[in-house]
Amino acid sequence: MKVIEDLAELRAERRARGTGVTGFVPTMGALHDGHLSLVARAKAENARAVASIFVNPAQFEDPDDLARYPRTLEQDLAVLRDAGCDLVFLPRAGDLYPDGYRYRVTESERSLELEGASRPGHFDGVLTVVLKLLLLVRPERAYFGEKDFQQLQLVEGLAQAFFLDTAIVRCPTLREADGLAMSSRNRLLTPAERARAPAFHRVLAESLAAGRNTREAEAELAREGFGVDYVADRDGRRLGAVRLGTVRLIDNAG
Ligand code: PAF
Repeated sequence: MKVIEDLAELRAERRARGTGVTGFVPTMGALHDGHLSLVARAKAENARAVASIFVNPAQFEDPDDLARYPRTLEQDLAVLRDAGCDLVFLPRAGDLYPDGYRYRVTESERSLELEGASRPGHFDGVLTVVLKLLLLVRPERAYFGEKDFQQLQLVEGLAQAFFLDTAIVRCPTLREADGLAMSSRNRLLTPAERARAPAFHRVLAESLAAGRNTREAEAELAREGFGVDYVADRDGRRLGAVRLGTVRLIDNAG
């Protein structure tokens, strides 16, 4: 497995790649089995699998959240190697943002609601870094999990709006045995919060299936001890965001 930090080296590697398609999995590290399922799929459907690890400061509106974000690089590289990943790109912030983030991608409608309303500027940061990574790696396919459903839809819109030659592939959310969606943030939960967390997806799924409205689902989540940010129905799915202590969790059902 090649590990490349340097932009010029990545471009040289890309030019030397030869034939065969590339599947790409962008990540912020702290990898779990959900990420590894994306890498496995990228590997199975393409000649080579490329992953990136970059904790993107532009998508964190809260500096404490950025500081707290788990970083486990050595472990991440080991699991990517075991998963058969061919190349890992570890860009440096100064190289990805030589303009200091003066130039950025802004979506002016769907990025402003739900996660975008709770986290102003978040999706500008996500869309900007995803565009940069896709232009640098130039994969035929890029793999995104359905847990971050709003992000997935916005990335699909980005690829369409800018005529990108990358197909965005939707991948189902991987869950722990008790139903909690796998997420890098789960490791920040205390044991008591971790025990409570599976009720989040259960309430989203059961309330949707039973035809209860989003207000009722919010009230149920509050009764289960969550700080509720929102529950909203979009495109046949029920999306939600909650807080457990200092940790914010998002998920969806449908
Ligand atoms: O979903 C994530 O981990 C991030 O938002 C992404 C797509 C890697 C961009 O930084």
